[in-house]
Amino acid sequence: MSINLEELIQKASQDFREAKTPAALEDEKAKYIGKNGTITQLMKGLGALPPEQKKTEGARFSKAKNEVERLLNLRREEFANQALLEKLSAEKIDVTLPGRGGQRGGLHPVIKTWRRVEAIFKSIGFDVADGPEIEDDWTNFTSLNNPENHPARSMQDTFYIDKKDSNGLPYLLRTHTSPMQVRYARSHKPPIKVIAPGRTYRVDSDATHSPMFHQVEGLWIAENISFAHLKGVYTNFLQEFFETHDLTVRFRPSFFPFTEPSAEVDMMFTSGPNKGKWLEISGSGQVHPAVVRNFGLDPEKYIGFAFGSGLERLTMLRYGVDDLRLFYEGDLRFLKQFQV
Ligand code: PHE
Repeated sequence: MSINLEELIQKASQDFREAKTPAALEDEKAKYIGKNGTITQLMKGLGALPPEQKKTEGARFSKAKNEVERLLNLRREEFANQALLEKLSAEKIDVTLPGRGGQRGGLHPVIKTWRRVEAIFKSIGFDVADGPEIEDDWTNFTSLNNPENHPARSMQDTFYIDKKDSNGLPYLLRTHTSPMQVRYARSHKPPIKVIAPGRTYRVDSDATHSPMFHQVEGLWIAENISFAHLKGVYTNFLQEFFETHDLTVRFRPSFFPFTEPSAEVDMMFTSGPNKGKWLEISGSGQVHPAVVRNFGLDPEKYIGFAFGSGLERLTMLRYGVDDLRLFYEGDLRFLKQFQV
């Protein structure tokens, strides 16, 4: 058997180079090292040769086969590179195209209310305070006259943190902004006149409750701040907030462990679409003497009021929104209505 392997390799090299497409290249490959390819056939024939020749011929064939494979792979790479270059130039970005223009964001309606409430209370001399959303048990409950196992706690179940406070009780997500009464009063000297807006949490979720919601706490403590001041301040606030004097306010007896007496603040518009309906708007009351003591103050000397109002509630009434969940869905069709 005499076959010129050099020539064969030359021929393969030429065929591979002439193949115009990857598919054509694979067809050419079949001619040499495919199942019925020339080199494959040669190798199959080795079995019939005498041992000595088998060895030398075998070595020659496999060297030739390696060379053909090398040439094949080179050509395959050429095709791959070419494909990549074509892809890159097809996807070329034209950096000279004009931009799409910036999109202007807007304030969330609840944040608008938050800012509005701050502005109104600042204008009548209230300070604005901020505090932690992760609270310890004493500040959120016990200091507010709401001891462990007190049934009033069950109205405010919340989310607990694994970490324990110095009393061995788990930290929690604050259920109201009222702990800010204690934090602020313990670090400021009377007269104390502050609001504390912020996020609060409860295990509640329906059309009018969300597990996260916003409240604003108000606290005014001095030597003779009475329930009458609460009525005046809060009524004035509502008139400012809703930009109308066409509303009536009523203080309906209620219960909170940290105020005595306590009242639910209801309001009613006397004109407009919500006219004639009593709407619950806030909790309030005269701060309980035990709480004043936890402020580090003498309840015989210091007295005053507190209130806690829902910012979502105020926002819903101001804009006529009837489902609280809309505030948290991030639906631009809803949110855009509040941008001016
Ligand atoms: N913290 C009370 C609540 O979340 C509201 C409140 C605040 C009531 C201050 C009285 C005084 O329901």
